[in-house]
Amino acid sequence: MIEVRDGVFFLQTRTTSYWFALTEHGHLEHLHYGPLLPPQDPSALRVKRTVEFGATVVYAPGEMEYGLDAIPLEYSGIGQGDYRMSPVEVFTTHGADTDFVYRDHRLLDGTVASAGLPIADGGEGVQTLEVTLADERAGLELALLYTVFPDVDVITRRAVLRNTGEGTAELAKLASLQLDLPDRGYTIRTFDGGWIHEAHAHDRPVTSGVFSTGSTTGASSARHNPGTLLFASDADEERGWAYGFNLVYSGNHATSFERDQHGSVRVMAGIQPQAFRWPLAPGEAFETPEAVLAFSDEGLNGLSDRMHRFVNGHITPAAQRGVPRPVVYNSWEAAFFEIDEKRLTAYARQAAKLGVELFVIDDGWFAGRADDTRALGDYTVDAKKFPAGMKALVDRVAKLGMRTGIWVEPEMVSEDSELYRAHPDWALRIPGKAAREGRHQQLLDLCNPAVRDYIVEQVGALIDDNGFSYVKWDMNRHMADAYSPHVAHPGMTAHAFQLGLYEVLERIFGPRPHVLLEMCSSGGNRFDLGMLRWAAMIWTSDDTDPIERLDIQQGMSYLYPQSVVSAHVSASPHQQTLRDTPLSTRFNVAAFGCLGYEYDLDFLTPEEKREITEQIAFYKQHRELLQFGRFRRIPSGRRERVMWQIGEGDAAIVGNFQRGVRAAPERDILPIAGLHPDAVYRVDAKPQRIMLDRLGALVNHVSPVRLDPNGLVMNVVSKRRSLPDGVESYHGTGELLAAGIKLEMQFSGTGHNPAVRMLGDFGSTLYTVVREDAT
Ligand code: DGJ
Repeated sequence: MIEVRDGVFFLQTRTTSYWFALTEHGHLEHLHYGPLLPPQDPSALRVKRTVEFGATVVYAPGEMEYGLDAIPLEYSGIGQGDYRMSPVEVFTTHGADTDFVYRDHRLLDGTVASAGLPIADGGEGVQTLEVTLADERAGLELALLYTVFPDVDVITRRAVLRNTGEGTAELAKLASLQLDLPDRGYTIRTFDGGWIHEAHAHDRPVTSGVFSTGSTTGASSARHNPGTLLFASDADEERGWAYGFNLVYSGNHATSFERDQHGSVRVMAGIQPQAFRWPLAPGEAFETPEAVLAFSDEGLNGLSDRMHRFVNGHITPAAQRGVPRPVVYNSWEAAFFEIDEKRLTAYARQAAKLGVELFVIDDGWFAGRADDTRALGDYTVDAKKFPAGMKALVDRVAKLGMRTGIWVEPEMVSEDSELYRAHPDWALRIPGKAAREGRHQQLLDLCNPAVRDYIVEQVGALIDDNGFSYVKWDMNRHMADAYSPHVAHPGMTAHAFQLGLYEVLERIFGPRPHVLLEMCSSGGNRFDLGMLRWAAMIWTSDDTDPIERLDIQQGMSYLYPQSVVSAHVSASPHQQTLRDTPLSTRFNVAAFGCLGYEYDLDFLTPEEKREITEQIAFYKQHRELLQFGRFRRIPSGRRERVMWQIGEGDAAIVGNFQRGVRAAPERDILPIAGLHPDAVYRVDAKPQRIMLDRLGALVNHVSPVRLDPNGLVMNVVSKRRSLPDGVESYHGTGELLAAGIKLEMQFSGTGHNPAVRMLGDFGSTLYTVVREDAT
């Protein structure tokens, strides 16, 4: 709900309020973003201008108390006395000087369409406030758009700058969001990393000066995700004030936090200003990406819940919203480029028996693609590898009861390709400079309409001709040669590329809503809300090692729901870390996301097949909960122990993961949150297997005959026999379980019976929590 009364703007969601007010000079003073307050006289929330402040540049002659530097503002300019970082840098005949003052406002139902950028979808009760500010002297008009999503407690913001003057205005920076908050001893949390170690959470206190994070790679990047958090010193997962910020954008971005001399923190987020320029001819406008804001006074889990509901309800493609994601098999980590009809058919037969629903043909299927040095751009099926054609394979997979998906990397071209030979000018390239290659490939110039048409036709035909119902869209190199002859200024290239990409995605997938799109960029190099407007899920990381995934998926969980986190089980020892982990743990981690397998299925042992079949059956049974349930990180107080809970109320699943064992392990406590206090629940460990080769010489304690742990017999037996694990069950009321179950003891070399928890290094257990009177 939005209400405007006596120059005060009251933006209200179910549990939060965002207020600002006009000052006597028409600036917008930020008053409050926090817990829900009924609209009322806000004067106590205004900053007090009791007396003149020293060393201040004042706004108007004789008004010594009105200095913009000391006022929390909704959007500042440059040159009027506010010396904090400005959200806008635009050069006119007045230099960079800008002073935006209120002109008018209007209230609209729903969202306001964007010209080319993705924005969140509206829904029940969604309203937009548009406040127009102007700088008459500079010939600029600035519209601030606030969209309120009451049901999910999110507010989005964007800015549109129009040149109303007579000359060209050169835009160098326009943030989507400025938010000036009083400092409550805040901590900033960012999600950083790189290839195979995405989204690791990093904290630092807000201190004087500016902390900024962002991307310059041409994509949102795994280096620094565009999503950030700010939380008060007394906040934790369950309690306290926490803010979350994100951008519906996939290109270069920047977010900064600045603490000023008055104890205010200025948050800004938007397009990365480095190397950005956007000339505005008279009458032209520039629109920023949409920034997403959420607040929770129920700690970081409360904040994640709001962000998750927003993504599931307003960001992911409407046709896929709430639709369970299928169990996937993907050929990449099994076969890499060595795929052909025969090998894939064998995999498909096996995958179908295991319960897989979607069979994905990854890289290596098109003509000339023997390795990663060639052929990107030429998406014609390799007739040698697929003599009967691709459609024949798709039909065969359909007969096995699965859908088929295909991998493409349409934004790229290899120099060794038919496409490049025909159109060398279609690659982004600085005139006179040799290309800086990454993975032997170059970016296509998506600022060029002919390139966009080519991609739309190629990918569209590929989907339609073969009946694919899923596309994995990859993007494996950063932007380096950011120059296009198809834009008016080189500084426009990176953003114009994004606009071109969004147009291409809309033209391909808009008319094909049934096609499930999974976005990928060397793993999670483009894990952002912009991509999620077309993709229902994103390949989170090329790293499928479950212990590394605990950090990666936990990092993503702060801002992105499990329904978009693609998570696969792969071989062990792991291909990047050499870590040897139990199959059960590989599944237990992947189950907190969209499940898939990337495995050489020819080499599964009978026992592994049994285990995987049961894993998939369990996942399908609990999929709604695992993908769309309310997610919580349960603090354990110990780095080596991670606990995640999904679901609340009548049913939940809790994962208990051990990164590393300690001798004589301490007792483990498992608290379960969000249950009905008086209802009675049954908690059962999911049955899983301990493969015998994990036990080494210990096997002789349970074997009736003495076996050489490294011998042939043991080798044969361990493929066909295993020990049952996960034989625990507990029960209690919701309030009792919230206090924490004291779990059965872990194995510590003193004996074994079925209830002993055999975790060791990298062990884990899933627990199902079901209300007894509801079963
Ligand atoms: C990078 C992706 O992250 C992988 O999953 C795989 O699709 C390869 N590209 C294929 O080249």
